[in-house]
Amino acid sequence: MTERETWATRVGFLVAAIGSAVGLGNLWQFPFKTAANGGAGFVVFYLVAVLLVGFPALLAEFVVGRRTHINAIDAFERLGHREWRFIGVVGVATGFWILSYYNVVGGWVMRYILGSATGAYFGDPAAYFGAVSSGPEAVLAQFLFLSVAVGIVALGIEDGIEKATKLMVPSIVILMIVLAAWVTTLDGAMAGYGYFLSPDLDVMLANAGSVVPFAVGQAFFTLSLGMAIMLTYSSYIDEDDDLPFDGGVIVVTNTLIGVLAGLVVFPILFANGIQPGAEGGASALFVATASGFAQLPFGRVLGVLFFAVVLIAALSSAISLLEVSVAYVTDNYGYSRPKLALGVGVGLFVLGLPSAMDTAWLTWFDTFAYSLFLPLSVLAMVVFVGWVLAADAVDELREGAGDLSRFGPLWLWVLRLVVPAGVLLTLVLGFQDLFLGSDPAAFAPF
Ligand code: PHE
Repeated sequence: MTERETWATRVGFLVAAIGSAVGLGNLWQFPFKTAANGGAGFVVFYLVAVLLVGFPALLAEFVVGRRTHINAIDAFERLGHREWRFIGVVGVATGFWILSYYNVVGGWVMRYILGSATGAYFGDPAAYFGAVSSGPEAVLAQFLFLSVAVGIVALGIEDGIEKATKLMVPSIVILMIVLAAWVTTLDGAMAGYGYFLSPDLDVMLANAGSVVPFAVGQAFFTLSLGMAIMLTYSSYIDEDDDLPFDGGVIVVTNTLIGVLAGLVVFPILFANGIQPGAEGGASALFVATASGFAQLPFGRVLGVLFFAVVLIAALSSAISLLEVSVAYVTDNYGYSRPKLALGVGVGLFVLGLPSAMDTAWLTWFDTFAYSLFLPLSVLAMVVFVGWVLAADAVDELREGAGDLSRFGPLWLWVLRLVVPAGVLLTLVLGFQDLFLGSDPAAFAPF
């Protein structure tokens, strides 16, 4: 078999991981989940979830990936724990499942760049969304989005993913800053910031039961956890990076982009008298925000820029998820990467068809991913790393970690106790909401 690829530079790994983390989860779901869950109180829960649950779980994936230098499914065997292989299988399957409908949304975003440029949705944003979000046009858009992702992954780790994300991530950051600066000039800006950033303690506590699972689920999704992505990316690390430091950079950047997204979206909504919480789900972005662009001066330019950032972010996430499956097959069967990327792409396209034909399917796919697959997958991973790998995991984390290696034992205990507790809580509350139904619609981001 030919030698396994690696990142050309340490920054390459970092940027690719940030590209994976920053995606629709930050630009779309985070602001609108915040809106649907009572504003700034949700932000507080989310930040706690990222710090206490997301960050430690991210390091757990890194440790397994870098120690084994192999894909997510074979990693467990290489560690001498073949019986835990199912974690890799669940991770790969979860990722595949999620990417199938993620591509559909990616297609919508492409469509909206065009729609913003021509002003196609300016007349009646809701009708436009209804027309393009499902059916043959959505299938075509899904196909185009997926094709670009497949093309990048086909080029390989260094020449494809690393080069592409080195361009994409800085573009996302710069464009977001430009947009955030732009919207400060809008009339509703202050009201928007207030809504987003000042927590109402009473509302926060009253809603804790339904908000906590959301916050934890969002932390997993936005950090690309439970889909074997971070494990796969860290398996291409050649030298000994400082994992806690890199993890910290990823978490902070990812969170900042989410916050920036809120600072962009809420002023636009408030400037146009659009109530943020009223329209949850897909329409929050594609109808509510879009109607903001329709009403603002230079709305077309603003719209094109905004949806361009969303597209870049979604693409750099999609490629990371595609790579997970491609890594598994390349490691095992040595097929050529382009053929494989194409094969995986075809599979994804087919699985995504129901979501492209009917948004109800998309919601269903997403609800399962959030309330069930992601938490279960993360739970299995942290239990394995915390209780089975245990001391070996701490050793691996310390490798190259400089000063931060002091926190190794603390990390292990957080992984053993705090993260599983958070996940279990999420599962129970999520189930309750899903099946006993306080408000299932609030759960589905689409
Ligand atoms: N972190 C990504 C996001 O926020 C989640 C994701 C990654 C989803 C890869 C799909 C593919 O959008």
